[in-house]
Amino acid sequence: MKTITVSGYDVASDTLRDQRLAQSLYDEGAVIMADVLLVLHGAEHRARRLLELRVFRRDFFRYYEHVVFPATLKQTVAPYEAAGRADLMELSYRLTMNLTADFAGIDRPLRDAEETERLRRQVMVFSEGATLVHSTRDKETVRNEVRAALAEFKTTFYEPSLARRQLLLTDFAAGKITEEDVPRDVLTVLLKNDERVEMAPDLMMREIAFYLQAGSHSTANATAHAFHDVITWCATHPEDRQRVDTDPLFLQRCVHESLRLHPASPVAWRRSTCPMTLPTGADADADDRVVIDLATANRDPSIFGVDADSFNPHRILRDGTPPWGLTFGIGVHTCLGRDLDGGLQPRADTDPLTHQYGIVPLLVQELIKRKARPDPSDPALAASHTERANWGYYPILLDTVC
Ligand code: HEM
Repeated sequence: MKTITVSGYDVASDTLRDQRLAQSLYDEGAVIMADVLLVLHGAEHRARRLLELRVFRRDFFRYYEHVVFPATLKQTVAPYEAAGRADLMELSYRLTMNLTADFAGIDRPLRDAEETERLRRQVMVFSEGATLVHSTRDKETVRNEVRAALAEFKTTFYEPSLARRQLLLTDFAAGKITEEDVPRDVLTVLLKNDERVEMAPDLMMREIAFYLQAGSHSTANATAHAFHDVITWCATHPEDRQRVDTDPLFLQRCVHESLRLHPASPVAWRRSTCPMTLPTGADADADDRVVIDLATANRDPSIFGVDADSFNPHRILRDGTPPWGLTFGIGVHTCLGRDLDGGLQPRADTDPLTHQYGIVPLLVQELIKRKARPDPSDPALAASHTERANWGYYPILLDTVC
């Protein structure tokens, strides 16, 4: 088996769209990732994606941004506001974990800090398991931690959430409640299973665990990177400071630029399912590994300009190139949470009052409103448990908003 690396933006994009290539980045993390949506291929992937796509509709994103998100934000931020300080990683994780739990279909009946913290700890372990290929720790130790976290998740969160949904679906079938009373989330969709997609009970639980980690891990990291990039940019470009405070479309543009520079995974891995010629012209045998270098593709100077390596929210983009580059992937595995997290790209006639901004831009906006700033007495630290370039600890000071 040989490894072929693809790094130019256009060829990386064409390679990700090539359906003869199957997912392979998560083979090491099979303890949690085996047979979940992201690793499926062909007809099996199509059927499951179509089923789960029902949850990811734009009308629901809008409702989520305007109704659910502000309430969850208020509740999560309150203790940090009172203290006047936070670890941005912890704050982002708590918030985004609640957000993803709503989409995945995991109830948090108590809604208190202890319950959130318990779920957050479990999800952190799932994340480390999923990205095991990039872990710097002993892999078998991490696998055992994932098994223990899954067992705890099953009794503390999964089974009660499952039972409540089963009951609601029975009541709905009996005409006792209406469709509005049934939750709109991945677990409910899987239980209803209108498409009759085969799924063993253990896989269904891991699918939900996968959603929890896929959504919260990448959103929390993206929020910390975006906050850091915006604050750093404003320090050297005071002319944009006020715009960041008052122009949410500009702030969204800043977040998209940050997403381009910091893809959640620096690489996508694929396996060739047959002998083939790749879009680069290289020949691959069956089962060769194709590494798509997203981080390098997103900094391709022929697409993003000579300053592609730096943060520049005024960058002029080629028509049709998403401002976040390949950070949300492309092709059959394109991220289902893309519009939820990044929002929609504004058009010339976009109304800033009704625009869908996305959860990461909204979160950064909320931090800016609270005058969040790095704590000068406690420097931020990079994450040490992974080769991925993420923040591990990011202390901030913040004010209260009424
Ligand atoms: C900034 C935040 C996020 C980033 C950067 C991100 C990135 C990605 C990328 C790159 C992929 C494709 C991987 C590949 O092709 O190998 C992906 C897939 C996926 N993402 Fe995200 N993601 C984010 C947030 C979310 C959220 C919030 C959710 C759910 C609520 C989510 C759910 C998914 C799912 C279900 C897939 C698998 C799709 C499939 O295989 O058909 N993501 N994500």
